[in-house]
Amino acid sequence: MADKQAIGVVGVGWVGLVTASCFAELGHPVVAMDIDASKVEALRRGEVPIHEPDLPELVTKNAERLRFTADSDELLAAADLLFCCVDTPPTVSGDADLSRVRAVLETLPSGSDHVLVMKSTVPAGTGAAIRREKPALAYVSCPEFLKEGSAVSDFMNPDRVVIGADPGDEAAADAVEDVYRPLGGEVVRTDVASAEMIKLAANAFLATKISFINEIANVSEEVGADVTEVARGMGLDERIGSSFLRAGIGYGGSCFPKDVSALKQLAGNTGYHFQLLTAVIEVNELQKRRVIKKLEKHLGSLAGKRVALLGLAFKPDTDDMREASSLVLAARLQGEGAEVVAYDPVAEGPAREALNAVDLRPSAAEALDGADAAVLVTEWPEFADLDWAGLAGRMANPLLVDGRNFLDPQALRDAGFVYEGIGRPSED
Ligand code: UDX
Repeated sequence: MADKQAIGVVGVGWVGLVTASCFAELGHPVVAMDIDASKVEALRRGEVPIHEPDLPELVTKNAERLRFTADSDELLAAADLLFCCVDTPPTVSGDADLSRVRAVLETLPSGSDHVLVMKSTVPAGTGAAIRREKPALAYVSCPEFLKEGSAVSDFMNPDRVVIGADPGDEAAADAVEDVYRPLGGEVVRTDVASAEMIKLAANAFLATKISFINEIANVSEEVGADVTEVARGMGLDERIGSSFLRAGIGYGGSCFPKDVSALKQLAGNTGYHFQLLTAVIEVNELQKRRVIKKLEKHLGSLAGKRVALLGLAFKPDTDDMREASSLVLAARLQGEGAEVVAYDPVAEGPAREALNAVDLRPSAAEALDGADAAVLVTEWPEFADLDWAGLAGRMANPLLVDGRNFLDPQALRDAGFVYEGIGRPSED
């Protein structure tokens, strides 16, 4: 059997580390480079700095094929196929910050004929600009669609693999298709600009779906409907589909907020006003703040009240706090004079850095002790199995706002709670 193609990965954040270890699992020799030498050192010791299911096992299992380095020369010498996995966070203007992508380009010597495979989410038009700047380089856009919490299984079982290349780079695109072939999933071969747009449009559409169902939830509250029933009835229409119709306290994470904003700004920079995305962003912002009104309805002023947040990460199975709804919620509660205590099964470390003056407790029970209200922010599975009747007795006032419609309202009421969901009938 022919030797598997060597693969280089630039950036060992979420996307880079998952990409590197999954390609190693598929039998490729992989060199993964990061400018952060301490991260590289940690990975060499087998320490995985993020919470992602199955990832530590893959890194350990494939240690022989997976080399970490902070030296770009080592990377360039080891592989022709380079996957660019650096982050593209938002700038103050809401555009994507391409400085890390630029730094990667600077490590490529002029005349380098490597294949640069762009996995980082970049504005449409970036590939064309890079191609003009580095004519010897082959350029392929291959956006990632990994969800945190299931990134390894998403990589190994893709719905589709999008491969964008412009005329002249077909051989490079074939090489990328070859390394993805064992994974299955429909391959979408297209041009670079379209591939870049697919990524932005897919995330913007999913965010739109969430803001849409959140608005339906808000109207449902007014008319006495239950949004979980509405979503069930809508989702069975195969043109709509049932996924991403869970109402709650808004989307967060490292992708949706920044990608929706980046697409809005990208459109604006061309002179087009993407009105729908403006509304999607605003609905998401307001959705986090509606919890305050729900608490005030039962408690009156929140000044001096103790509110316990259950879950802090932007979603379960991750310790990622980026753009988490808990950040806005904690700040708003503190702004109203409330004392905020919290518990998260894994995000305690990142939360300590991100949250000011929030008292982090080691268990849900200790967070709820003496609290005037609880807000379920992240639907960690363990919250379904708590002894809610016992917990009601430990609170000063058993009020629960279920920000993810995760718990059974009747079971919580039977356990002695006043239960408020999102878009569901309340008791009064
Ligand atoms: C997302 C995309 O799904 C992925 O394809 C892309 O590559 C990166 O961005 P991720 O950020 O890991 O992945 O999270 P995702 O599972 O998509 O959830 C995003 C946010 O939406 C979370 O805060 C989640 O709680 C929220 N959400 C999701 C809802 O509020 N309702 C839903 O129905 C679904």
